[in-house]
Amino acid sequence: MPDNKLQKGPQDSARININEDYEVRYWTEKFNCSKQKLKEAVGAVGFNPSKVNTYLKKSKTEKLTVRVQTKTNVKIDVKKLRRDFPMLASKPGGKPMIYFDSAATTHKPKVVIEKLKEYYLKQYAKPNEQHSFSKTTTVAVELTRRKTAKFIGASSPKQIIFTRGTTEGTNIVAHGFADAILNMADEILITKMEHHSNIIPWQMACVKSGAVLRTISITGKGEIDLNELDSMITGKTRIISIPHSSHVLGTILPIKKICALAHAKGVAVMVDGAQAAPHMPVSMKDLGCDFYAFSCHKMGGPTGLGVLYGKTEWLNKIAPLIGGAEMADTVTFSSSTYTGIPKKFEGGTPPFAEIIAFGTLIDYTKKINLANTSQYEVQLLKQATEGLSKIKNVRIFGTSDNKEPLISFDIEGKDVKKLERYLHNKWGIALRAGELTAQPLMKVLGVKQLIRASFCYYNTPQEVETLIKGVETFAKMK
Ligand SMILES: Cc1ncc(COP(=O)(O)O)c(C=O)c1O
Repeated sequence: MPDNKLQKGPQDSARININEDYEVRYWTEKFNCSKQKLKEAVGAVGFNPSKVNTYLKKSKTEKLTVRVQTKTNVKIDVKKLRRDFPMLASKPGGKPMIYFDSAATTHKPKVVIEKLKEYYLKQYAKPNEQHSFSKTTTVAVELTRRKTAKFIGASSPKQIIFTRGTTEGTNIVAHGFADAILNMADEILITKMEHHSNIIPWQMACVKSGAVLRTISITGKGEIDLNELDSMITGKTRIISIPHSSHVLGTILPIKKICALAHAKGVAVMVDGAQAAPHMPVSMKDLGCDFYAFSCHKMGGPTGLGVLYGKTEWLNKIAPLIGGAEMADTVTFSSSTYTGIPKKFEGGTPPFAEIIAFGTLIDYTKKINLANTSQYEVQLLKQATEGLSKIKNVRIFGTSDNKEPLISFDIEGKDVKKLERYLHNKWGIALRAGELTAQPLMKVLGVKQLIRASFCYYNTPQEVETLIKGVETFAKMK
């Protein structure tokens, strides 16, 4: 087996997991390299370069990381980038803020804040009215819908529903399935690594429909076993709802493969993209999932806004969760008819200022290029993993080779809540300790609580070094 370590930094190399389920074009675009370079990289680590398509498309089981020389240098000027985020300059308690809680919510670039301010000061009006400010708003909202569709590789803006966040997106699908699809004793599959918001809506759907919720176990590395998943799909399974990446373990799930397994048996797939969409380019066409939900506040966008993507045929099949203004064609005291998609899912006044500011965030994200920043974030994760794993009694939960930039850990015999306070008060580090909105997963892992450091492209290696020092000092304290 070839050496699968990536040693060099993001400047001249890029990481590819050959067994990931993307097409060649995805990788060449992601790493800005030619197909020839991709082939050379595959050849350099002992695989047949002419079979690069087969490796990438047919999803070989071997895990392999190769190095690709990129056409242009992938350079992140973090100092410059940080100037885009005013909050990062703040000094709570007199110390520079080290923000490692981006999995909870990210800070916002100035352009988004300014867009909101400018909109409220100069353009504000409710959409869908006749006056000119309203028309400007209507156009801007629909422009963001089109930008969002393009950003996530959806085939039509009609497949983009603006929600309050991932939670609402999941609830729309779960309740929609309970009402239209699920029958007594039907089965829904989720994993054991779920956030509460991908558990509770499905429990509600089970109560409504009589369906049964089943859970897919996780391996010691924090991955799921695809053979087990496949064997759990029965004639009664109607939907699999899974995270694109875990908010505790960091594991990135092979969504395309899971969709292929599920679709071969006529089962739908819903993806909770809350932790993945902020860190990697995603393409609905490529992943092939039926639904995908994410939250804008976790990716530099405004609060109170999320996106639910759905395949057209599904969105037409399920009923809306919320009834109200803008989602009905005709209303009588006895019944109402709904408009088409996406509006039928957007009852009530939408958060239009936030939607418009999210359009600005998409422009910003394209400029900084998630494909580049994700390489940088992987380096931060690698640095944190190496540093923390050297500290006596530190246990890291989630050791997949393919992770989002977050790390959850504890120190045997120590209270992680005390560590959280200590890191904040003494070192100025903001992170999160507790059950991490994953009580069932804590039981599976055999822990009460964990502490999680989650990184973003605006973090620096110096900040990661401070975290390692802080944890090391705490671990030695009596
Ligand atoms: C994996 C995952 N799913 C869903 C959510 C819920 O997101 P929101 O509260 O923005 O709806 C979160 C939030 O932390 C999450 O990490």
